[in-house]
Amino acid sequence: MKRKGVAALLMMLLCSSGIVKAQEFLEISVQSGKPGAEIRPEMWGVFFEDINFAADGGIYAELVKNRSFEFELPMTGWRAASRQNGNGRMVPNFYSPFRQSNPHFMRIYIDPSFGSFAVANEGFRGMGIRKDAQYSLSVSARLSENSDIKMTADLITPSGEVIGKSELTGFSGDWKSHRIAIAASADEQKAQLRITFSGRGSLDIDMVSLFPEDTWKGRRNGLRKDIVQMIADLKPGFVRFPGGCIVEGRNLLNRYQWKTTVGPVEERRMIMNRWNVEIGSRQAPDYYQSFGLGFFEYFLLAEDMGAEPLPILNCGMSCQFNAAEVVPLEELDPYIQDAFDLIEFANGEVTTKWGGLRAEMGHPGKFNLKFLGVGNEQWDEQYIERYKVFEKALKSKYPEIKLVSGSGPYSAGRYFEYGWNELKKLNPDLVDEHYYMPPEWFLKNATRYDNYDRKGIRVFAGEYAAHGKEGTEPESRNTWWSALCEAAFMTGLERNADIVNMASYAPLLAHVDAWQWRPDLIWFDNLTTIGTPNYYVQKFFSNYSGKNVVPVTSGGKNITGQEGIYASSTIDPKAGKLYIKIVNSTDMPRPVTLVLGPLQYAKTATKETLASGNRDAFNSIADPRAIYPSATQVKVAGRKIIDEAGPLSVNVFIIDFKAR
Ligand code: AHR
Repeated sequence: MKRKGVAALLMMLLCSSGIVKAQEFLEISVQSGKPGAEIRPEMWGVFFEDINFAADGGIYAELVKNRSFEFELPMTGWRAASRQNGNGRMVPNFYSPFRQSNPHFMRIYIDPSFGSFAVANEGFRGMGIRKDAQYSLSVSARLSENSDIKMTADLITPSGEVIGKSELTGFSGDWKSHRIAIAASADEQKAQLRITFSGRGSLDIDMVSLFPEDTWKGRRNGLRKDIVQMIADLKPGFVRFPGGCIVEGRNLLNRYQWKTTVGPVEERRMIMNRWNVEIGSRQAPDYYQSFGLGFFEYFLLAEDMGAEPLPILNCGMSCQFNAAEVVPLEELDPYIQDAFDLIEFANGEVTTKWGGLRAEMGHPGKFNLKFLGVGNEQWDEQYIERYKVFEKALKSKYPEIKLVSGSGPYSAGRYFEYGWNELKKLNPDLVDEHYYMPPEWFLKNATRYDNYDRKGIRVFAGEYAAHGKEGTEPESRNTWWSALCEAAFMTGLERNADIVNMASYAPLLAHVDAWQWRPDLIWFDNLTTIGTPNYYVQKFFSNYSGKNVVPVTSGGKNITGQEGIYASSTIDPKAGKLYIKIVNSTDMPRPVTLVLGPLQYAKTATKETLASGNRDAFNSIADPRAIYPSATQVKVAGRKIIDEAGPLSVNVFIIDFKAR
């Protein structure tokens, strides 16, 4: 007998014995004939921040760490790998002040007695190499006078076995970029790149870069395909970038400045990643931002996925949890100018300075930027004063751009209320709310937006996640319970889509060997990417989003946790699809009768379910489908569906009807 059958039989026996009270059918009325508020196409999006090695070491497919020797300790990631004849040496911190954004390079000396010398790069917690895949190694190099040097590049396993090899010769006295291909003969999670120099004299090297040739959309030196695919499968309505606190910086010097992230990669000025020493128990001093994934690439990524780009800019404040620096109001002009120039970069004609750069980078077409965030998670008077200056300037020059303001890091309380009250006197299009709260908070807050002012400013639920516990505690994992509670809460977001116009789980990505913050939506190692239960919950909502909210009630009331059940419904009238989401937060199955409105329905519907009897269950690289959606067919009898929401389950009923 199948597991489900055993469970049903057991339940019958328990019910008939009186040990467990049989659950009554819950009659749910779905007024599919009366579609309500519009659900914005950008409703369910993603929050991208370079935290947890999300960019370098993650989605940005570069395999070499510290490719340009610009880390504070220039040999970080590199080591002398072997000396045959004992004759080589390297001097890593040559400094050429003319190359302002990338002044350091490495000089390799080989003894005239024709020895050889090798250096190796360890990658980002190793390099993920796939059998039969092609890799592209590029090196910028310059040969000194009277030198003759050949380079051999090997991909090696931790035990030193060579799984890919290629040679490079033909260096000259001028800086020149060279490229060779390397074919890999084996899968390796923790490979390294070893470069052996042989001959005599000295060679300067810089921008040592190794990429898989098979990247997202086949772009040279592009993004890691498996991770982007996972994000694209969410069909996100927007991509928020580049964060998060990374926008603010630990101090202003370390803030995110979009202009240093565009143009040729070798000219993008690398800085430390603010998350490298932020979390005491998860220090990562080797965490920097190469900006190979910069603003151009973010725009492109959003465009690839049919999502609205939502850049967030620094508003003249560094992180208030760190240095809390603020720029005097009368000195905000360069920050405002950055915002103007960004709009020109995205939407300007190619004849303008920044629109021209976009074209030069390969995208003459406009990116159609519609939203712009002013500040990330700032609070109090200092933020409001600065936001006002931005709003005035931006609304007068670019009234068509929707401005996203913030309500700070807290879901309620003094700063939250002060922020909202002040913003109500102004003109932001959306207010960004953040909540990293315990799972039960999400259950209780399924009604959070039911009483928001229907005519007020719209909400962007810009960062949220159910946190069992913080830090490295096991409960901080992406457990099934956390995902289920988020689903219950999201029925409230969906029901209130007239108020909540955008929402994103945060953070999006984390490397299993290099994370700072947990939980996160998608996890990866150097070869594999997995979705968390929270990911599949997000996918349910974004893939089955619908175009209008449909009232869904029981006993005339919204279903917001009575007897542990939560529900919402949406419709896509043109596509002829009705979606009903039901979350059962109890350990008991709940029989339901769905009474639908007067439309012509297909005779069977699909029910997709996420469920587990174990609240603490989570997905891992070893067991990526511990919690995974399953689909069943259910009967539609006239306008009724009689079915059930299993214990601890999130369900979406997908019902086809004849479109008008
Ligand atoms: O998502 C992680 C961090 O949480 C973000 O950087 C910040 O905005 C929030 O505090």
